[in-house]
Amino acid sequence: MKVTVSRKAHFNAAHRLYNKDWSDAKNENIFGKCSNPHYHGHNYELIVHVTGEIDPQTGYVIDMKLLKNLIKTEVEDLMDHKNLNEEVADFFELIPTAENIAVVIHNKLKPHLKEEWKLSITLYETPRNYVSFSD
Ligand code: NI
Repeated sequence: MKVTVSRKAHFNAAHRLYNKDWSDAKNENIFGKCSNPHYHGHNYELIVHVTGEIDPQTGYVIDMKLLKNLIKTEVEDLMDHKNLNEEVADFFELIPTAENIAVVIHNKLKPHLKEEWKLSITLYETPRNYVSFSD
């Protein structure tokens, strides 16, 4: 019997969507305001979902404290109040779209979790725009 445990978290970060292989005009054309060379910020809302069997000894799938601490050390400490393009190494070569941020978050958390657990990431860039990534 598998159960999904979810934890919400939050971080603020700045980014710019820019493909360095393209001209400024093409970047402007594709990314619009999101390509602003002076950057812009978002209040990201993150939901991390872990699906697995209930441990009969604890009644938990995963201890929420563990999940909370993992999100803090692997995501919030790295991204909160940061310029993603300039301060977070994962995005030096990777465009920090919500899609790519979700995949990066997934890949940072995954090695800390049991292999048999399914990990899903939901990332809201705005209240209306969000992406999901699952393994
Ligand atoms: Ni943006």
